[in-house]
Amino acid sequence: MDRIAVLTSGGDNPGLNPCIRAVVRIGLHLGLQVMGIHRGYAGLMGGDIKPLDTRSVAGIIAKGGTILGTARAPRFREAQGRREAVRKLNRHGIDGLVVIGGNGSLTGALELHRMGFPVVGIPSTIDNDINGTDIAVGVDTALNTILDAIDKIKDTASSHNRAFLIETMGRNSGYLALSSGIAGGAELILCPEIETPFEEIIKTIDDSYVQGKAHCIIVVAEGWRPGADEVVERLRDRQEELGFSIRVTRLGHVQRGGAPLAFDRILATRLGAAAVRALMDGKRGNMVGWVESRAQLTPLEEAVAYQKEIDPELYELTQIMN
Ligand code: F6P
Repeated sequence: MDRIAVLTSGGDNPGLNPCIRAVVRIGLHLGLQVMGIHRGYAGLMGGDIKPLDTRSVAGIIAKGGTILGTARAPRFREAQGRREAVRKLNRHGIDGLVVIGGNGSLTGALELHRMGFPVVGIPSTIDNDINGTDIAVGVDTALNTILDAIDKIKDTASSHNRAFLIETMGRNSGYLALSSGIAGGAELILCPEIETPFEEIIKTIDDSYVQGKAHCIIVVAEGWRPGADEVVERLRDRQEELGFSIRVTRLGHVQRGGAPLAFDRILATRLGAAAVRALMDGKRGNMVGWVESRAQLTPLEEAVAYQKEIDPELYELTQIMN
């Protein structure tokens, strides 16, 4: 293997740059040439591929976003688009590819593997919904961003005696809501994986007031149905009776930005290095995840087969801690 390439794909997160840096620097250290593919699979199909050297990744360990850019690429889901991608890889003399991204990106990597191209994936998504890794790159920083927001909202909620529904990202996963809710001392956490009767939401707000709390914080995963707005709508006329007026804060894309925290920088460095070593050792078609405190390989097929579950024990704890 002489020349590898790296791409970031799908929704960005704060761990992508440290990951790119690790792939580039370990690759160069092992005597490889490293190419950067810009704008994910879209850039790959379009041949947007340029060499990376050690200076081109200087300083990026502390930066959010991705120097390579990212994109969602519907055309890559079609066989024609993928054939175009492999043609571009061959034309640039690339012998191996590291794909950094979430579920959709790793599914794309699996397709390339099935076409016979040597590929290794690194799980990197704030959603933390990928099998074969305890935690994906970018999750910890996003979680801390959410936690900072919860702490701040709690200040204003307490000043005004308000109930807040704070909506986190996560697509269909409740991981971010559950983890940030636990860490932020939320009164209730609403996750798509767990059914919560509407009556329980009312009871939580009511109990908070009766117990003399100055606020009620409910963390809502974006995938939870019927959704935060519906709760507000249904409680619109009951705010006086419940003792709290109700507000919604949707944290949105702020969760995906910012400087990567120490945990993500180290995780990204370890997984980036392990991914290049796996490619060189011929262990293609795998994802390098973080399991029991070390880098471990899981076939891409298993990694994307289904959504990782949230921890029911952690959810049970939320009910005791609130
Ligand atoms: O998968 C990452 C993620 O941030 C999800 O949590 C969210 O549902 C989605 O991407 C938002 O995507 P977009 O930035 O394309 O709106």
